[in-house]
Amino acid sequence: MKSNQFHLLNLFRKKSASSISTSKGTLNRCLTAFDLTLLGIGAIIGAGVFVLTGIAAATKAGPAVCISYIIAGLASMFAALAYSELATSIGGSGSAYNYSYVAFGELIAWIIGWDLLLEYTLSVSTVAIGWSGYVNDALLALHVHLPEKLLKNPFEGGIINLPAFSIIFFLALLLGIGVKESSRFNAVIVLIKLVTIAIFIAVAVNHVDVRNWATFFPFGWSGIMQGAALVFFAYIGFDALSTAAEETLNPQRNLPIGIITSVAICSTIYIIVSLLLTGIVPYTTLNVKSPVADALMNIGYPVASGVVAAGAIAGLTTVMLVMYYGLTRICLAISEDGLLPMFFASVNPKTRTPIKIIVFSGIIIATIAGLTPISSAASLVNIGTLAAFTLVCAGVIVLRYRQPEIPRPFKLPWNPLIPSLGIFFCVYLMIDLSLITWIRFVVWMMIGFVIYFFYSRKHSKLS
Ligand code: ALA
Repeated sequence: MKSNQFHLLNLFRKKSASSISTSKGTLNRCLTAFDLTLLGIGAIIGAGVFVLTGIAAATKAGPAVCISYIIAGLASMFAALAYSELATSIGGSGSAYNYSYVAFGELIAWIIGWDLLLEYTLSVSTVAIGWSGYVNDALLALHVHLPEKLLKNPFEGGIINLPAFSIIFFLALLLGIGVKESSRFNAVIVLIKLVTIAIFIAVAVNHVDVRNWATFFPFGWSGIMQGAALVFFAYIGFDALSTAAEETLNPQRNLPIGIITSVAICSTIYIIVSLLLTGIVPYTTLNVKSPVADALMNIGYPVASGVVAAGAIAGLTTVMLVMYYGLTRICLAISEDGLLPMFFASVNPKTRTPIKIIVFSGIIIATIAGLTPISSAASLVNIGTLAAFTLVCAGVIVLRYRQPEIPRPFKLPWNPLIPSLGIFFCVYLMIDLSLITWIRFVVWMMIGFVIYFFYSRKHSKLS
């Protein structure tokens, strides 16, 4: 028992080293609590609220989609508290991968790291495809017609979804230049996004017709839960903040503030927006590509509708930026440990960003975004994220028991109740996802096992 604890403590020390020192450079510690909150909102508010709210209301939950948002929000808030504790006590840019390493050992850490690569890569690609749809709509409104062949992937009869493909290279450039520059770009866009949501709320609040809420629970409790499993996508992103642990000033204080504040602000916005959206038009009309903008159009506000569509484009851009950022930091952490090729484990000394990973992952994300239809990708992203959240909540309980002595600058209250509730909610939401999503998820994890046993285990630097 003693030697086991000693081993764990050593591992903890190695994993919680305050900054990544690579053969070439270190990450730049420059982000404040305010930067982090904006990064969080930048990553969180996107396709979920602007697109999935309509689909969830029309096909799953009806006006009770606001309850779906409350349930998904609770799962996310419990996980956010768990992330805050582990991000401040363990830290590192690997997020749940790092925490699982310390709590459960290398195999589980690899499993969760592999799972996070799926979550982050696919979420950026999916949002890029959604972004492309919105941009094309905006271009059409300006009478600019792109050739159909350059808007559709080969599976839909086109050559490539060029806007989705190209935006990734723009984001790669931004991320390559430097994290402070990326966070400034993010801050401007987050403000635009918040203003457009405020415009929606200001217009919608005066046009609620309570008759639209007459059938509030058309699909019953199971509809509300399926809606929650879908709109959970809208909360994904705050976890990416924990990957910024090594680039945050005073992370012990600033990370929990950033994570918890951004989840709280976004939950409030989602509940208000979903309630108003189903209040101004019948929920049955919301199964469209841009439900929030369309609803404003339907109640006679074309200008506000255009502004909201523009805000959605901006919103989706920052989601991609932050998720892409998170992906590169997790990749860096895994390569640092030798589980992925060491070739990637370098930070450019000039820009202090992991340029090799940015370019390599950018090519993969852009290829997926440009060439494939990812209709069910949101569900696949959700199952991957819920699995990660479950392990992070479990990690809090296990580490409190196995490593009571490590410093915990932020301690979540009522342990083990809060993390247990987090596990319960996340597993409940996973069960509500479809069988095909489960099958795809299991296949991805199997590929991960093969890579681990044939490559990573032999090259691990820590085990
Ligand atoms: N939460 C992010 C979105 O809704 C992933 O687009």
